[in-house]
Parts: sequence; C-alpha cells; structure tokens
Amino acid sequence: MLLQWFVICLLAMPVLTGNDRKCPMECTCNVDEQNRRQLLCTKGGLSAIPVNQIDEDVRVIIIKGPGNTINIGQLFKKFSNLEVLRITDSQIPSIGTESFWGLIKLRIVDLSRNNITNVNRHNFRGQNNLHELDLSKNKILNLSSTSFDHLTELKRLNLADNSILELVPRTFFLLNQLKYLDLSGNPLQDLPPDVFRDVPELRIFKCRNCQLKKINPQLYNLLPMLSELDLGRNEFKFLDKDEFRDVKNLIKVLLDGNQLSVVVDELFRNQKRLQHLDLSYNRLAKVPNDSFQHLGNLTFLDLSYNKLMRLEPQSVRSLNKLLTLNISGNVQMNLHDMRETFEVIPQLTHLSVADMGVLPMGLLVPFKQLRYLNISGNHLDNMSLQVIDPCRELEVSTFLDLSRNQLYGINEDTVKRIQRIRNVRLDNNPLICDECHMGKLINVVQHLQWKWETYPICFLPKPLRGSEITDLDVSKLHDCLDYITDEEQNAASTSHNFLERGGLNTLAILGGIVLVLIVVIILAMAVCFSKRRARYYTREDRLNGANAV
Ligand SMILES: *[C@@H]1O[C@H](CO)[C@@H](O)[C@H](O)[C@H]1NC(C)=O
Ligand SMILES: *[C@@H]1O[C@H](CO)[C@@H](O)[C@H](O)[C@H]1NC(C)=O
Ligand SMILES: *[C@@H]1O[C@H](CO)[C@@H](O)[C@H](O)[C@H]1NC(C)=O
Ligand SMILES: *[C@@H]1O[C@H](CO)[C@@H](O)[C@H](O)[C@H]1NC(C)=O
Ligand SMILES: *[C@@H]1O[C@H](CO)[C@@H](O)[C@H](O)[C@H]1NC(C)=O
Ligand SMILES: *[C@@H]1O[C@H](CO)[C@@H](O)[C@H](O)[C@H]1NC(C)=O
Ligand SMILES: *[C@@H]1O[C@H](CO)[C@@H](O)[C@H](O)[C@H]1NC(C)=O
Repeated sequence: MLLQWFVICLLAMPVLTGNDRKCPMECTCNVDEQNRRQLLCTKGGLSAIPVNQIDEDVRVIIIKGPGNTINIGQLFKKFSNLEVLRITDSQIPSIGTESFWGLIKLRIVDLSRNNITNVNRHNFRGQNNLHELDLSKNKILNLSSTSFDHLTELKRLNLADNSILELVPRTFFLLNQLKYLDLSGNPLQDLPPDVFRDVPELRIFKCRNCQLKKINPQLYNLLPMLSELDLGRNEFKFLDKDEFRDVKNLIKVLLDGNQLSVVVDELFRNQKRLQHLDLSYNRLAKVPNDSFQHLGNLTFLDLSYNKLMRLEPQSVRSLNKLLTLNISGNVQMNLHDMRETFEVIPQLTHLSVADMGVLPMGLLVPFKQLRYLNISGNHLDNMSLQVIDPCRELEVSTFLDLSRNQLYGINEDTVKRIQRIRNVRLDNNPLICDECHMGKLINVVQHLQWKWETYPICFLPKPLRGSEITDLDVSKLHDCLDYITDEEQNAASTSHNFLERGGLNTLAILGGIVLVLIVVIILAMAVCFSKRRARYYTREDRLNGANAV
C-alpha cells in the first residue's frame, strides 16, 4: 500500500512542480525560436506518449526514438493549439482513424522513420489546414486515389523511401496547392502522367532511385511551374531533344547516376533559367558543341565520373556565369587539351579535377578567381604541386583538397599560401614529419586562428605514424629524414589509401595470402606432375609389356 502511494506520488511529481506547467519526466519542455511552447521527448525508449502529463497549451510536440514503440490514435484532441507534431523513429504501425480530428491549427505532421504500411483518407479527416506531411522512411506499399483528399491545403508531401510500387490514377487528387513532392526511393518504374494532372503548382519534384527508364513527356507538359527536378540514380539511357521542351522554368536539374552516354544538342534549349546541372556518374563520352549553348544562367556544372575524353572550348563558351565546374574522375580525359577550354571560362571560383592522373603544369593558369580547388587523388608530389602556383586567389579561399597524393612534405612557399586558406586537406599523403619536410607547416598550422576539418597525418618516421601534426612537439622533430625504405615507398605508391585504418595490415595480409597461394599451387603442380610421371611409367611399362608380347 505504502509502495503504491509512493509510486503515485512519484508520477504526480512532475505535474505538481514546475510552475503549474505540466511536463513528463522523461521529456523537456521549453519554448521554440518562434516563442511556441514545445515538448521534446528525444531520449528514446518510450512505449506510449504520456499525454496526461503534457500541458494542453502545447504548440509543438517532438518525439524521437530510438527504441520507441508507440501507437497513435485519437490522443491529441485536447491539444487544440497544436501546430507541429513530429513523432519519428518510433515504430508507429499505423496513423489511425481521425487521429488529428479537431486540431485545426495543425500545420506540420512528420511521421517519418516509422512502420506505417497503409495510408487512407480517414487518417486525415479535418486536416484541410495541413501544410506539410512527411511519411518518408516508412513501409507504405500502396496509396489510393483518396488517400490525401482531405489535405486540400497541403504544400509539401514527402513519401521518400517507402515501398510504393505503383501510383494509381489520381493519387494526388485535390492536392492542387502542392509545391513539393518527394517520391525518391520507391520502386515505381513508371510515372503515369495522369497522376500529375492534379498538382499543377508543383515546383520541386524528386524521384531519385525510382527505377525509372524513361518519362512520358506528357508529364512535363502538366507541370509548367517545375523549377527543381531530381531524377538522379535512375536508369535513363537516352534523353530525347524534346524531353524538357515544356518545363521552361527549371532552375536545378539532377540527372546524376544514370546511364546517359550523350547530351544531345538542343536538349536544354528552353532552360534559359537553369543554374544547376548535375550529370555526374553517367557514361558521357562526349558533350557536343551546342549542348549547353542556351545556358547563360548556369552557375554549377557537374560532369564528374563520366567517360569524357575532351571538353571542347566551344561547348562551354556560352556559360558566362559558370562558377563551379567538376570534371573529376574522367580518367581518359587529355588534360593538355583542357587549358584551351579553361581559357573560355576564367571566371570559375570552384574547380574539381580530382582522380585524373598527372596535371600538366600550366593547367590552372587561366583562372584568376579560384577559391575552391580539389586536386585530390592525382599522384601529386612536391614538384608537380607547382601546378597551383598561378592561382593567387587561392590564398583567400575556402578549400584546397590535396588528399590522396604523393606529397612527402610541404615547402616554405606552399606553406605561405596554405596558411591563409580556411580548410586544407592533406590526408592520405606519405608525409614525413621532420623539420625539413613538415616543420614549417606544423608550426603554421599549430598557430592558426581557425580549425581545419581534418589535419595532416604523419606517415614517417614510424614512431609518429598515424599522429596528427597538431599533436606533435615541434622541438622534438628530427632534422631531416631523407631515407625511405623500399618497402614503404612501395606501400605509398601502390595504394592511395594506405594510411587509412588497417590499410597497411590489409596489404600485408593480401601479400601473405598471395604467397600462400603460390606455394600451394607449386606444391599441387609438383604432386600432379609426379603422379602423371608415375602414370606414364605404368603406361610405358604396359606398352613395353605389349611390345614384348
Ligand atoms: C518495425 O520495423 C522494424 C524494422 O523492420 C522491426 O524491427 C520492428 O519489429 C517493427 N516494429 C513493429 C512494432 O512492427
Ligand atoms: C493495398 O494492397 C493490399 C494488398 O495488395 C490491399 O489489400 C489493399 O486494399 C491495398 N490498399 C489500397 C489503399 O489500395
Ligand atoms: C537568365 O534568366 C532570366 C530569367 O530568370 C532570363 O530573363 C535571362 O534571359 C536569362 N539569361 C540568359 C543569358 O539566358
Ligand atoms: C566543335 O568545336 C571545335 C572548336 O571548339 C571545333 O574544332 C569542332 O570542329 C567542333 N565540332 C563540331 C562537330 O562542330
Ligand atoms: C563536384 O564538385 C563540386 C564542387 O566542388 C561538388 O559540389 C560536387 O559534389 C562534386 N561532385 C561529385 C560527384 O563529387
Ligand atoms: C574532392 O574530390 C574527391 C573525389 O571526388 C572527393 O572524395 C572529396 O570529398 C572532395 N573534397 C572535398 C573537400 O569536397
Ligand atoms: C620541393 O621542391 C622544391 C622546388 O619546387 C625544392 O626546392 C625543394 O627542395 C623540394 N622539397 C622537398 C622536401 O623535396
């Protein structure tokens, strides 16, 4: 009896304390930046929402896992001022019938990262004021044409990362205010145009990784306001020159991770507003001279990780506003030809030429305003690092990525330039942490006013291997270690990532395995050979025997 009273008192405690405001023990209650009373239960491990201990004035409820197993239903009725409800990562199995009935101020419902399999119209009755619904990362299998028909004011709908196989006709019936729709990560394979007849206001549409092979042009015809289109990681092989004819307001287009082998001339002829174009990770072998002709507003162009051999000056000549270019990972590209192309776009501020091999000396001469340069993974050594000398503006830049190269040290001149750069990456270089190779840099880096995201790591001498240079005591460094054993030089030149955890061990293990294999093969051959010989003898013996007969 006494114990029961004690438990009840404990439960009532949070209700009685805290200035007549209620707040469940396992949660925090405060006001958000818009001065709204909010409840935050983010520790996880909840098995129910402690509704009786929540203040009725609450306007924002945020409940997060991990380890929650929560059911929702008509729990929220008394929170008539509720504007935002986010219950994520909590294994909610279903939304429930009329769960939000009467909450006329509710604007945002976020039930992402749960176990919801089914969505129907009864879930959202009375929600004609809702602006945003996030059901991403659930297990929704199908939708019906009436699933959302109470949500007539909805502006943003996120259904990404579910298991929706098909969009039935009029899936988005009555959502004619919808501006943002994300269907990414559903194995849809097809987007029936009719489905989009109901969302003429759509501005942002994403269907990354939807197993799409092509799009019916009719769809674009129904979405004249579209400004952002993300169709990355699908299976497009070819885009017809009329593909984007009807979407004249596009500002951002992502087509990365498809199988495109060419950008046909005139493909973007109506996209005069386009600013951002991502064609990385395709199979582009060439960019015809007129492909980007009309893209006078383009500021960002990503052509990385394709199969380009060259990029004609002619094809980028119209890109007067281009600021960012990424041509990394086009391993077959002849960079000697690129100087001429770069001369046409000297205004670039961001350039990535990573994973390309050796960079010709004068390559970067045309650029006078470069502030971000990524030349990682290019076998750069102390000598070839001079390629960055012409880029004077790098000294006030934000990023220089020199990782995954062959740098043993950083000389004084380079240190002078590096010390003004906000962020420098030098990881995965065979750096020798002694006075003559790294002394200057170590000194400078240890006294910088700001922090780099990552710091260089020593490769030699062995006792310092793996140490960040910021942890070193400069006075205890060796003078000059010009001695590198063959073993280490080999390790450095055979693998870019030799410094990553376990890299060397992996090499050693691989070597060991190869050795064992060779021995096994030799032994096996020896055994085999001796057996054959044995058999030959017996046959010969028999033959001899036969002859003798
Ligand atoms: C929710 O899904 C997760 C992951 O598939 C599973 O482990 C868990 O058992 C499910 N929870 C419920 C209540 O069904
Ligand atoms: C979803 O699919 C299941 C099984 O295929 C079916 O029983 C259910 O009626 C479908 N729901 C809707 C809303 O179409
Ligand atoms: C850039 O876009 C604007 C509309 O945003 C358009 O009026 C202008 O013609 C475009 N410029 C070029 C060079 O295409
Ligand atoms: C493309 O332009 C280059 C000059 O940049 C020119 O040499 C080449 O002949 C052109 N190619 C075609 C197919 O017009
Ligand atoms: C290409 O470089 C740009 C600018 O540095 C960067 O924003 C983009 O993510 C890079 N693309 C890839 C595929 O890494
Ligand atoms: C530089 O490019 C490489 C290869 O594309 C990439 O992995 C790396 O993240 C880039 N560096 C920065 C700072 O973005
Ligand atoms: C690096 O190259 C410069 C010439 O650019 C040379 O003077 C210097 O001795 C070299 N430093 C190292 C550590 O090899």
